[in-house]
Amino acid sequence: MIRVVILGSGRGSNAEAILQAERNGELGLAKVMGIFCDQPDAGILKLGPRFDVSAFYLDPGKYRTKLEGAAEAHWVHTIECLSPDLIVLAGFMRVIKPTFIEAFHQRIINLHPSLLPKYPGLHSIQRAYENGDAETGCTVHWVTPEIDAGEILGQERVPIEKGDTLEAVEAKVHAAEHKLLPKTIRHLAEKWILGTTQFPQD
Ligand code: GAR
Repeated sequence: MIRVVILGSGRGSNAEAILQAERNGELGLAKVMGIFCDQPDAGILKLGPRFDVSAFYLDPGKYRTKLEGAAEAHWVHTIECLSPDLIVLAGFMRVIKPTFIEAFHQRIINLHPSLLPKYPGLHSIQRAYENGDAETGCTVHWVTPEIDAGEILGQERVPIEKGDTLEAVEAKVHAAEHKLLPKTIRHLAEKWILGTTQFPQD
Protein backbone atom coordinates (compact mmCIF):
# COMPACT_ATOMS: atom_id res chain seq x y z
CA MET A 1 0.00 0.00 0.00
CA ILE A 2 1.03 3.59 -0.64
CA ARG A 3 0.55 5.48 2.63
CA VAL A 4 -1.04 8.90 2.04
CA VAL A 5 -1.14 11.87 4.43
CA ILE A 6 -3.36 14.84 3.54
CA LEU A 7 -2.65 18.43 4.59
CA GLY A 8 -5.41 21.03 4.30
CA SER A 9 -6.60 24.37 5.65
CA GLY A 10 -10.22 24.72 4.56
CA ARG A 11 -13.52 23.01 3.96
CA GLY A 12 -11.84 19.83 2.78
CA SER A 13 -13.93 18.97 -0.27
CA ASN A 14 -10.86 17.51 -1.99
CA ALA A 15 -9.84 15.49 1.05
CA GLU A 16 -13.44 14.23 1.08
CA ALA A 17 -13.18 13.26 -2.60
CA ILE A 18 -10.03 11.25 -1.82
CA LEU A 19 -11.64 9.51 1.17
CA GLN A 20 -14.83 8.83 -0.78
CA ALA A 21 -12.76 7.33 -3.61
CA GLU A 22 -11.00 5.10 -1.10
CA ARG A 23 -14.35 4.06 0.37
CA ASN A 24 -15.64 3.27 -3.14
CA GLY A 25 -12.56 1.19 -3.90
CA GLU A 26 -11.39 3.78 -6.46
CA LEU A 27 -8.10 4.76 -4.82
CA GLY A 28 -6.40 1.53 -5.88
CA LEU A 29 -3.23 0.79 -3.96
CA ALA A 30 -3.29 4.02 -1.92
CA LYS A 31 -4.60 4.40 1.62
CA VAL A 32 -5.15 7.58 3.64
CA MET A 33 -3.34 7.33 6.99
CA GLY A 34 -4.24 10.74 8.42
CA ILE A 35 -5.17 14.38 7.87
CA PHE A 36 -3.42 17.40 9.38
CA CYS A 37 -4.78 20.93 9.37
CA ASP A 38 -3.41 24.34 10.40
CA GLN A 39 -6.83 25.88 11.22
CA PRO A 40 -8.57 24.69 14.40
CA ASP A 41 -12.13 25.16 13.06
CA ALA A 42 -11.70 24.02 9.45
CA GLY A 43 -14.31 21.77 7.87
CA ILE A 44 -11.62 19.29 6.83
CA LEU A 45 -11.29 18.18 10.47
CA LYS A 46 -14.91 16.97 10.47
CA LEU A 47 -13.97 14.31 7.91
CA GLY A 48 -12.12 12.34 10.59
CA PRO A 49 -15.13 10.81 12.34
CA ARG A 50 -17.13 10.56 9.08
CA PHE A 51 -14.48 8.46 7.38
CA ASP A 52 -12.93 6.88 10.45
CA VAL A 53 -9.54 8.43 9.79
CA SER A 54 -7.40 10.48 12.17
CA ALA A 55 -7.72 14.21 11.52
CA PHE A 56 -5.81 16.62 13.74
CA TYR A 57 -5.17 20.32 14.09
CA LEU A 58 -1.47 21.15 14.44
CA ASP A 59 -0.34 24.58 15.63
CA PRO A 60 1.32 26.41 12.68
CA GLY A 61 3.07 28.99 14.90
CA LYS A 62 2.80 32.74 14.66
CA TYR A 63 3.07 33.31 10.88
CA ARG A 64 0.08 33.50 8.55
CA THR A 65 1.63 32.26 5.30
CA LYS A 66 4.17 29.63 6.40
CA LEU A 67 4.93 27.29 9.30
CA GLU A 68 7.11 28.85 12.00
CA GLY A 69 10.47 27.07 12.55
CA ALA A 70 9.68 25.15 15.77
CA ALA A 71 6.14 24.43 14.61
CA GLU A 72 7.44 23.12 11.29
CA ALA A 73 9.76 20.71 13.12
CA HIS A 74 6.73 19.47 15.07
CA TRP A 75 4.72 19.04 11.83
CA VAL A 76 7.57 17.10 10.23
CA HIS A 77 7.98 14.84 13.26
CA THR A 78 4.23 14.19 13.55
CA ILE A 79 3.82 13.42 9.84
CA GLU A 80 6.91 11.16 9.90
CA CYS A 81 5.23 9.10 12.65
CA LEU A 82 2.71 7.97 9.99
CA SER A 83 5.53 6.88 7.62
CA PRO A 84 3.92 8.47 4.56
CA ASP A 85 4.93 7.57 1.02
CA LEU A 86 2.95 10.50 -0.34
CA ILE A 87 1.88 13.83 1.17
CA VAL A 88 -1.05 15.50 -0.58
CA LEU A 89 -1.58 19.25 -0.24
CA ALA A 90 -5.35 19.53 -0.67
CA GLY A 91 -6.04 23.21 -0.09
CA PHE A 92 -3.10 23.70 2.30
CA MET A 93 -2.75 27.47 2.23
CA ARG A 94 0.82 27.91 3.44
CA VAL A 95 4.09 28.15 1.56
CA ILE A 96 6.07 24.93 1.99
CA LYS A 97 9.66 25.78 2.86
CA PRO A 98 12.73 23.91 1.51
CA THR A 99 13.35 22.33 4.95
CA PHE A 100 9.91 20.67 4.82
CA ILE A 101 10.38 19.63 1.19
CA GLU A 102 13.77 18.09 2.04
CA ALA A 103 12.23 16.12 4.92
CA PHE A 104 9.84 14.47 2.44
CA HIS A 105 11.99 14.48 -0.68
CA GLN A 106 9.95 13.90 -3.89
CA ARG A 107 6.95 12.80 -1.83
CA ILE A 108 4.76 15.95 -1.79
CA ILE A 109 2.12 16.78 -4.39
CA ASN A 110 -0.08 19.88 -4.58
CA LEU A 111 -3.47 20.60 -6.10
CA HIS A 112 -3.79 24.02 -7.74
CA PRO A 113 -6.93 25.60 -9.24
CA SER A 114 -5.55 26.67 -12.62
CA LEU A 115 -3.93 25.23 -15.70
CA LEU A 116 -0.35 25.77 -14.53
CA PRO A 117 1.96 27.37 -15.54
CA LYS A 118 -0.87 29.92 -15.87
CA TYR A 119 -1.99 31.69 -12.69
CA PRO A 120 0.28 30.37 -9.94
CA GLY A 121 -0.37 31.86 -6.49
CA LEU A 122 -3.66 33.10 -5.09
CA HIS A 123 -7.09 33.87 -6.65
CA SER A 124 -6.29 31.78 -9.72
CA ILE A 125 -9.88 31.06 -10.79
CA GLN A 126 -10.87 34.70 -10.45
CA ARG A 127 -7.87 35.87 -12.48
CA ALA A 128 -8.66 33.46 -15.34
CA TYR A 129 -12.30 34.57 -15.25
CA GLU A 130 -11.53 38.30 -15.16
CA ASN A 131 -9.00 37.95 -18.00
CA GLY A 132 -11.78 36.57 -20.18
CA ASP A 133 -10.04 33.22 -20.73
CA ALA A 134 -12.04 30.64 -22.69
CA GLU A 135 -10.94 27.87 -20.34
CA THR A 136 -9.30 27.22 -17.02
CA GLY A 137 -8.91 24.07 -14.93
CA CYS A 138 -6.82 22.44 -12.25
CA THR A 139 -3.39 20.87 -11.91
CA VAL A 140 -1.66 18.34 -9.67
CA HIS A 141 2.12 18.75 -9.54
CA TRP A 142 5.18 17.80 -7.50
CA VAL A 143 6.06 20.37 -4.85
CA THR A 144 9.43 22.09 -5.27
CA PRO A 145 10.81 25.19 -3.53
CA GLU A 146 9.46 27.39 -6.35
CA ILE A 147 5.74 27.97 -5.74
CA ASP A 148 3.32 26.07 -8.03
CA ALA A 149 6.16 25.24 -10.43
CA GLY A 150 7.04 21.55 -9.97
CA GLU A 151 6.61 18.89 -12.65
CA ILE A 152 2.96 18.45 -13.65
CA LEU A 153 1.37 15.05 -12.96
CA GLY A 154 -2.11 15.76 -14.29
CA GLN A 155 -4.49 18.46 -15.45
CA GLU A 156 -8.20 18.73 -16.03
CA ARG A 157 -9.60 21.44 -18.36
CA VAL A 158 -12.79 23.40 -17.66
CA PRO A 159 -14.47 25.60 -20.30
CA ILE A 160 -15.55 29.11 -19.31
CA GLU A 161 -18.82 29.65 -21.20
CA LYS A 162 -20.35 33.00 -22.13
CA GLY A 163 -22.72 33.95 -19.30
CA ASP A 164 -20.92 31.86 -16.63
CA THR A 165 -20.72 33.62 -13.28
CA LEU A 166 -17.48 33.42 -11.29
CA GLU A 167 -19.29 31.13 -8.85
CA ALA A 168 -20.30 28.82 -11.69
CA VAL A 169 -16.70 28.59 -12.91
CA GLU A 170 -15.47 27.94 -9.36
CA ALA A 171 -17.99 25.11 -9.02
CA LYS A 172 -16.82 23.57 -12.31
CA VAL A 173 -13.15 23.80 -11.28
CA HIS A 174 -13.88 22.19 -7.90
CA ALA A 175 -15.82 19.36 -9.58
CA ALA A 176 -12.82 18.80 -11.88
CA GLU A 177 -10.46 18.80 -8.88
CA HIS A 178 -12.56 16.15 -7.14
CA LYS A 179 -11.96 13.83 -10.11
CA LEU A 180 -8.32 14.74 -10.84
CA LEU A 181 -6.82 14.45 -7.36
CA PRO A 182 -8.00 10.90 -6.46
CA LYS A 183 -7.19 9.77 -10.01
CA THR A 184 -3.64 11.14 -9.79
CA ILE A 185 -3.05 9.49 -6.39
CA ARG A 186 -4.31 6.18 -7.76
CA HIS A 187 -2.04 6.39 -10.80
CA LEU A 188 1.01 7.36 -8.73
CA ALA A 189 0.42 4.40 -6.41
CA GLU A 190 0.08 2.08 -9.39
CA LYS A 191 3.26 3.45 -10.91
CA TRP A 192 5.25 2.96 -7.73
CA ILE A 193 3.96 -0.48 -6.87
CA LEU A 194 3.37 -2.01 -10.30
CA GLY A 195 5.86 0.01 -12.34
CA THR A 196 3.21 1.17 -14.83
CA THR A 197 3.01 4.73 -16.14
CA GLN A 198 -0.74 5.15 -16.40
CA PHE A 199 -0.82 8.86 -15.61
CA PRO A 200 -4.16 10.65 -15.98
CA GLN A 201 -3.20 12.42 -19.19
CA ASP A 202 -2.14 9.11 -20.83
C1 GAR B 1 -8.99 23.97 -3.89
O1 GAR B 1 -9.67 24.65 -4.91
C2 GAR B 1 -7.50 23.95 -4.20
O2 GAR B 1 -7.22 23.91 -5.57
C3 GAR B 1 -7.08 25.27 -3.61
O3 GAR B 1 -7.80 25.37 -2.40
C4 GAR B 1 -9.06 24.74 -2.58
C5 GAR B 1 -9.31 23.82 -1.38
O4 GAR B 1 -10.63 23.42 -1.35
N1 GAR B 1 -5.68 25.29 -3.38
C6 GAR B 1 -4.91 26.36 -3.59
O5 GAR B 1 -5.37 27.42 -3.98
C7 GAR B 1 -3.45 26.16 -3.29
N2 GAR B 1 -2.69 27.22 -3.84
P1 GAR B 1 -11.09 22.27 -0.33
O6 GAR B 1 -10.63 22.67 1.07
O7 GAR B 1 -12.58 22.24 -0.46
O8 GAR B 1 -10.45 20.99 -0.79
